[in-house]
Order: sequence, then C-alpha cells, then structure tokens
Amino acid sequence: MSAGAQFSETSEHEVAALPAPRGPVTEALLHALAGEPGPFPFPRVVAGDPLVDDDLHLALYVCYELHYRGFAEVDDRWEWHPALLDLRGHLERQFETALRDRFAVSDGQRESDVVVALTEIANSPGPSLSHYLRDEASLEQMRDYIVHRSLYQLKEADPHAWAIPRMTGKAKAALLEVEFDEFGSGRADRIHAVLYRNTMDAMGLDSHYGAYLNAVPGLILATVNISSMFGLHRRMRAALAGHLAISEMTSSLANKNTADGMRRLGLGDSTTDFFDEHVIADSVHDVIALHDLVGGLLEQDPAAAGEVLFGATAWTGIDALSGEYLLGCWQKGEPSLRLSGLGSGRPQAD
Ligand SMILES: [Fe+2]
Ligand SMILES: [Fe+2]
Repeated sequence: MSAGAQFSETSEHEVAALPAPRGPVTEALLHALAGEPGPFPFPRVVAGDPLVDDDLHLALYVCYELHYRGFAEVDDRWEWHPALLDLRGHLERQFETALRDRFAVSDGQRESDVVVALTEIANSPGPSLSHYLRDEASLEQMRDYIVHRSLYQLKEADPHAWAIPRMTGKAKAALLEVEFDEFGSGRADRIHAVLYRNTMDAMGLDSHYGAYLNAVPGLILATVNISSMFGLHRRMRAALAGHLAISEMTSSLANKNTADGMRRLGLGDSTTDFFDEHVIADSVHDVIALHDLVGGLLEQDPAAAGEVLFGATAWTGIDALSGEYLLGCWQKGEPSLRLSGLGSGRPQAD
C-alpha cells in the first residue's frame, strides 16, 4: 500500500472481514479491493437471477459496506472511487429492474388511497415464518434465523439515516422520531443493534459485526441491499419511506411471535429483549411512519405515491421470498446457511 492509503479505524468488533468470493463479480471486486483504488475489469451482467443471485448480492453488499464501516484491510478511498461506483451502478440497475418487474405496483393499488393500500399490503397473508418460529422452530432453527437476520440487525436503522437530509418538514421530523428510538433514545446500551448483539451473545453466536457474511445466501443479503439502495439514492427516498412504513406496520406481531417462540424454547430475557422492545416500539413507529413520514412526504409531493407503494411492495415481496426460503429449507431438513461460511466456531446448542 502507498503512504497515502487510508484505513478504517473502527474497532475490530465493529468492522467486518472481507468475505470469500462467490463468482466472477466478487472475484473481480475483492481482488481489486486488496490493492490501490483504481480502474479494474468486471463482468457487466450476472448470470443468475438478479433478485437473489449470490455473486451479485455479495458484491453489492461489499460495495455498500464501504459507505457504512468499511473493511479493516481495504483502503477507505475506495468508497467514492469511480470504478467502484461504476460496478455498483451496474449491479443496482439489475437489482432494481428485477424488483420493479417482479413486485410491480398494481393499478388497484395506484388508484387507492396510499394509507389504505399500505394497510392492505401489511395485512396480506405472507409466509408464516414468525408463526413457525413461535410454534415449531427448534433451537438450531431459531439460531439460524438469528444468524440470517444479523447482517441487517447489526446495522439496524443505519440505511434509513441516509434519507434524513433528503426529507424536509413533517416527513423529516417523523423519520428522526423513529430513528431516535432505533438508536437508543440517547442510551448507547438501548441501540437496537446493540440489543441484537446481546441476543446473539445470549444464544452463543458470534456477535461481531458481519461475522456471518460468508454464511448468508444472496437472497438474504438482498433484504439488506434493498434498504441500502433505497437509503443511498435520493430519487428513491419515497420508496424508502414506503419500505420503512410497511416494515414498522408488520413488525410488532412478528417480533412478538419470535419472542414467544424463544420463551417456548426456554430462552431468557437477555435473548428476547430485542424482540420485546420491538413489540412496544413498533406499535408506535408504525403510526408515525404511516401518517407522518409517508403522509408528510405525500403532502409535499403527491406524485410520490407510486414510489411509496413500490418501496412497500418490493420490501414485502423480497421479505416473503426470504421467509419461503427459510421455511422450505427447514421443512426439507436442508441447511439454510452456507455451511462453508460458518467457520470452525459454529455455536452448538447448550
Ligand atoms: Fe428497531
Ligand atoms: Fe421500529
């Protein structure tokens, strides 16, 4: 590295290690990131389904991570290097196109009142993942679920923070009100990402930031990437508002079911605290996000309604795919995690 190389100084607990490649795009990206920022060749189109492809979503996750905490062994100047942004743009276009094709907003939704349409989306039946967690999941399946979610929950609410300077007035105040809670309402020990880390510790899992990046498949990484993409693009701020609103509207019950499932398995308060907190917090956040964030945004820009609904339908669709994936793996007795990414420290049941 040159004398000008700059590296993240965040503590080891808070920075992920670079993952192993999963295909030609990540091969090219990870090889480039090991060196000085500069142009590098990469495949323009991925071979698989851009909605779930392992190679695409790991590459996109790594590109986005440079905007969050970076990687200890990667020069921080890569974050804004044109070659990196060129690759990111190619990946985003394929992902966004797939989202808009697969989860298009219906004419009925477009013609409906946005609050009514969002409420219908929130109440539409999806895969019963949280019911399974409540009633049937084994301890090992519950652990796997916590591992899958860790890539997002250990940076929970960070993607939405990108949108703060992109909102004004009532919408901005509402977003800040939700985010203030997500970040602990002034208490570092109540930051929701910290509560999630406590859950992982209590379950004997590795709570280091990004510890399971190699273990989580592209479909689950896509659930993180969609938030980062909406947050990082000003043109998608209405989609981000729709995504936040629908996730808050569906969160309380899902978290209650998960906490109840943990209690069924004999897990204690230090494990369930994160989920119990969300049962209470998100019963308030859903109202703020729906009426003040989305409502405030649409008062300023009524034409943004379609994008609000796109954010909600895209999130609901990709979240449903991830739920179907997990339930399918568990029903077939197949591993849901990429076992090669679990390393030697795979936690065992108590
Ligand atoms: Fe939260
Ligand atoms: Fe929330």
